[in-house]
Amino acid sequence: MAAQLTDSENAVIAAATPRYSRCKIEIGPRLSPAGGVAITGIDLSRPLPTAIRDRNAAFHTHHIVVFPQQVLTREQQFAFGAQFGSVEPAAGRGHGSKRYGVAHIISNLDQDGKPVDRSALPLSNYHWHTDKPYYRVPPMMTALYAVELPPAGGDTEFANTAMAYAALDGDTRRRIDGLRVVFYLGASAAGSACPSDAESRAAVAHPLVRTHPETGVKALYLGNHASHILGQPLAEGRALLKRLLAHATRPEFRYLHRWRVGDLVIWDNRCLLHRAVANFNLNQHRRILHRTVVRGTVPV
Ligand SMILES: [Fe+2]
Repeated sequence: MAAQLTDSENAVIAAATPRYSRCKIEIGPRLSPAGGVAITGIDLSRPLPTAIRDRNAAFHTHHIVVFPQQVLTREQQFAFGAQFGSVEPAAGRGHGSKRYGVAHIISNLDQDGKPVDRSALPLSNYHWHTDKPYYRVPPMMTALYAVELPPAGGDTEFANTAMAYAALDGDTRRRIDGLRVVFYLGASAAGSACPSDAESRAAVAHPLVRTHPETGVKALYLGNHASHILGQPLAEGRALLKRLLAHATRPEFRYLHRWRVGDLVIWDNRCLLHRAVANFNLNQHRRILHRTVVRGTVPV
């Protein structure tokens, strides 16, 4: 399963970028059946060797790529993300997040810098979601970089929605192919209520079963920002989404990433759900990561 670079590719990289010649770039074994791989021997503060950036094989095969032991400023992380496409401006979450041209900060700190547990709030990233599906053009990739972690826990968990789709029975697949999901920010807080007029105006509909634009693999597209199924009664659509979310997040479709400071992890939002895991005392310990989100294409 490991996708090693060939010797000639390593030689090309080493010749083009002398700093890499001292350590061989290695792509490790798959971290779980659901995905994940670690790439070592690469310094992300410098431009990526084109053999790595253009190859994309690790990203498409394993969906989650871990680059351990990185030392990155927020500007360098932004520049890293920009090599893959257009980086989304930060949406103003937390202090320091409104500057453009830097990765923005994800943390459990309040305005005074004290840790606080907001994990149970409907909109928190501790619920299964894909990033910004309520955009007409949602992100293809997210990069998250671990800056400060609790002594234990504070993990991020992923669920492979392509595996989940493939595991559905034929009847269910036929029933859901062609359906469209209505997404909006705040859908998870709505409970049984209808979207407000403002929410309806801001909502977008995407295919419930989307086809990966680069691999052609079909995957479920749903999660915490999904409200209902277009053209179906709210309750009926929400019940279907709830059933499919329970299926998609079964243990065999998951990979749990246990962070180390310096890990930069990229993942594919087009075929994965993810969530932060509240398996530490959020009111006591700080958890700080830097995030960069790269725009994708309109889901089809
Ligand atoms: Fe997220």
